[in-house]
Amino acid sequence: MTITLTGISKVFGDFTAVHPLDLTIPEGSFFALLGASGCGKTTTLRMIAGLEEPTGGSVRLGDEDITALPPHKRPVNTVFQNYALFPHLDVSENVAFGLRRRGIGSVRKQVEEMLELVELGPLAKRKPRQLSGGQQQRVALARALINRPQVLLLDEPLGALDLKLRRQMQLELKRIQTEVGITFVHVTHDQEEAMTMADTVAVMNAGRVEQLGPPDELYERPRSTFVANFLGTSNLIEAEITEAKGEELVLKAVASDTVLRLPADRCALENPQAGGKVLVGVRPEKISLTHAEDADADTGGADNLLTGRIRDAGYLGVCLQYVVDSPVCPEFSVYEQNVERDARLTPGTEVVLRWRPAHTFALDAAQDADAGTVEEAL
Ligand SMILES: Nc1ncnc2c1ncn2[C@@H]1O[C@H](COP(=O)(O)OP(=O)(O)OP(=O)(O)O)[C@@H](O)[C@H]1O
Ligand SMILES: [Mg+2]
Repeated sequence: MTITLTGISKVFGDFTAVHPLDLTIPEGSFFALLGASGCGKTTTLRMIAGLEEPTGGSVRLGDEDITALPPHKRPVNTVFQNYALFPHLDVSENVAFGLRRRGIGSVRKQVEEMLELVELGPLAKRKPRQLSGGQQQRVALARALINRPQVLLLDEPLGALDLKLRRQMQLELKRIQTEVGITFVHVTHDQEEAMTMADTVAVMNAGRVEQLGPPDELYERPRSTFVANFLGTSNLIEAEITEAKGEELVLKAVASDTVLRLPADRCALENPQAGGKVLVGVRPEKISLTHAEDADADTGGADNLLTGRIRDAGYLGVCLQYVVDSPVCPEFSVYEQNVERDARLTPGTEVVLRWRPAHTFALDAAQDADAGTVEEAL
């Protein structure tokens, strides 16, 4: 069932944890709330579950207003980070718990089905302490799903797992959600986790949703510096619009006379006009880097082009990472596929960077260019 949050907010004392928020979570979707620690993800989730009373606004499930409904009357189940399994009950008893509590007598078939879904059949008789973190996580999931909730809320459910198991469980969770078809609302601060699993991601920052959309749209067309920096890495160049006619914007970098171009619909400004100040963005993997001697400096305006000098070259196996200082922007980040490695590309080398206007985006310059970066968080 579709979850609709309308103007929902939460104030603790004089601190606003969640600013009035409108959010529609479509039925059957895998929806992720993504954001840094303290941005209000858990509070939002708890308001959906009924565990936290909203200061204002309403929660609807389908057509029904459930704002005043106590948690146990909502067709919603939550899986928490610490799983909270019963230590003295074995796996199948843990999974059967919700049904038994509701006085349902013959639970065996349903428990078996659930254990099969989460691939734990052979471990049915073990106690939680005899399971790995990932296995415990799956018991917690089965225990929630057996109640056939219409909505499953997951609060950092993979937080206790090491990286490799986490990646594996992400695929597993996605498979289970596709199989059962119910709405999952997944809270995480891990951008890769949100991107690999969710159909729709809401990026939260300081109690507000900054941007909402499918992962590729958030990544390819961020609308704010926070989203551009929090999801992956972005190079941002200060620039001014010089031509805003037609479908292409022409810009000039503030620090030099470099001309840059991008499609007008990739600019986040409401109404881009000549003279408007923007931050021009490009992702590191969209850029090709060539030794200055080999570069064809004239692209006839087809590509965006920068010159610079390599500051740092890193070898990561799957890719090569370069940091390039350009007069237009210091510390330009470039990722090259590790296919034909040019051994001359070492620190100090003059290079030319180029990328397509279609891979360029532009953001309003009237915001902190470092919002959402790791440096800002420290
Ligand atoms: N009961 C409470 N009383 C006062 N402040 C609270 C309370 N619960 C949460 N907060 C504050 O509200 C803000 C949002 O908290 P919340 O738990 O929603 O963050 P979060 O996004 O889930 O963070 P994390 O990723 O660390 O779990 C935080 O600054 C937190 O300190
Ligand atoms: Mg939290």
